[in-house]
Amino acid sequence: MSELVNVQVDGEWHQFPKGTRVIEACEAAGKFVPRYCYHKKLSSPGNCRMCLIVMGMPKMGPDRKPELDSSGKPVINWMPRPQICCAQDVAEGMGVRTNSPLVDECRRGVMEFLLINHPLDCPICDQAGECQLQEFSVQYGNQSSRFLENKVKKPKNVELGPRVTLDDERCILCSRCIRFCNEIVDDDVLGFIDRGSQTVLTAHPGKRLENNYSLNTVDICPVGALTSTDFRFKMRVWFLKETKSFCTSCATGCNTLIGTREDVIYRQTPRENNAVNSSWMCDFGRLNFAYVESQRRLLEPRVLLENKLSASDWNTTITHAALQLRHFGGSEIAIVASGRMTNEEMWLTSQLARSLNVGFIEIVPRRGPGDDILLSADRNPNTNGAKLFGLTEQPGAKLPAIVEGISTGQVKALVCLGENPTEFGLSTPQLSTLPAFILMDILENQATEFATALLPSCSFAEKRGSMINRTGRLQRLNRAVRPPGSARDDWEILRDIQQALTGSNGVYSIEDVFRQMSENVPALQGLSLSKIGDLGIQVLDTRNNEPSIVNEEGATKS
Ligand code: SF4
Ligand code: SF4
Ligand code: FES
Repeated sequence: MSELVNVQVDGEWHQFPKGTRVIEACEAAGKFVPRYCYHKKLSSPGNCRMCLIVMGMPKMGPDRKPELDSSGKPVINWMPRPQICCAQDVAEGMGVRTNSPLVDECRRGVMEFLLINHPLDCPICDQAGECQLQEFSVQYGNQSSRFLENKVKKPKNVELGPRVTLDDERCILCSRCIRFCNEIVDDDVLGFIDRGSQTVLTAHPGKRLENNYSLNTVDICPVGALTSTDFRFKMRVWFLKETKSFCTSCATGCNTLIGTREDVIYRQTPRENNAVNSSWMCDFGRLNFAYVESQRRLLEPRVLLENKLSASDWNTTITHAALQLRHFGGSEIAIVASGRMTNEEMWLTSQLARSLNVGFIEIVPRRGPGDDILLSADRNPNTNGAKLFGLTEQPGAKLPAIVEGISTGQVKALVCLGENPTEFGLSTPQLSTLPAFILMDILENQATEFATALLPSCSFAEKRGSMINRTGRLQRLNRAVRPPGSARDDWEILRDIQQALTGSNGVYSIEDVFRQMSENVPALQGLSLSKIGDLGIQVLDTRNNEPSIVNEEGATKS
């Protein structure tokens, strides 16, 4: 444990670990200091001056020891000039005043300077509602401007890269975006040019802000200078409902806020989780939600009746799907599940596989280029869950046998859950000859017209459930929007098929599914969906090839 130092904040003494920045110490003591350039995950250049405070150090007596007051605490020698508190660490006996006439005067002065050349276009600015310039202006600024001269005109609507647009005249030159690119992404792409009031942010000659983390600069820009080209002018932020969830576009599972209004997703932004994604997420995952609104969404269940795939109701479709499966058993049935399914769906799939005594079960691997920051080469968000529930040992290993079984006619029933069989080696003529082809998915594809029962299900934003990321952390998905048409929660569809095959199984809610899992799977012992919490819980140690259980909740319960 690091050494503690005594610091006086606004007259009260506190203890903070050595190395704490003064601005963080003030915050821990419940005294918020306004800031622009400071960001706790980046270095502190101390260039905006918004965090000016009064600071002092212990007064030394003639014996070179701190003088003590009547209560035994050091007497503080206050510095006559204000100091910034974002670039300095706490020290023994330090005194801080965050609230004094001098501090108020400094903040008013800094706000006045920052707004001198600002276009004051808040009504049409995308940052309105979450702009620190607006907020601090109200809290700490002047009510009117004394500036009579012409404002300096700076570039507007600059395409800094494919996903980020810059309005230079709103930039307050805090350098957060520059530091983010240099320190987190190691991409030296942004910088300031020109001097004094003419200084502007720009990309270096011949470079564009196009790294896969570029949209994090928009998140950390304290004003409306950097905006997301995708989100810009689409929706006022105060209309957005924010749902805590995580990204399902790779195995990292970056924690997110999904911003929605009236069942439409407008944006995803990263949510801090130091065990997973720090405060960042990649652009690929952030923007990967347009398909939720796709015209190709499957909206109603369909079933093959009299050689025609026709729209039907859920009861009829589930009954027919179960009837089709009843005709087959053992090696005649194959289940191809997805590494994008939740644990709850995987558990129910494993139960279904057991009741049908299926010959083959496998998930489809999904790979792409990864990096050393966050993006994982495994683009399935729940490969660890699939391994835990016995859906796979090595993703994709059994797919050739399944394709071969269908080609030879040995496999007569294929249950495909969230995967398109034409993408793992089956042709549409092969699918058309299958006596039973149960397909659960969200989008229409080349395979859907050959299904004998078609089950429209939910996207990641439309359902609850859990997944285990690449480092073995169990995390919780929350429902941000309602599913379209008659699409249903995947776990309910699987539960109903299982019930149609085996009778009632006592599962009425997703909590019941989790309870069954926690009673049967040691890694989940003692857990529930609500116990997972917003930041997840470590359940597996994946540092070796063979994941081991580290579920502390279960260990304390057992
Ligand atoms: S664009 Fe935003 S983050 Fe970058 S320097 Fe300007 S104000 Fe700061
Ligand atoms: S790194 Fe992976 S989980 Fe994180 S945002 Fe990107 S795709 Fe999503
Ligand atoms: S936050 Fe301290 S100088 Fe900018």
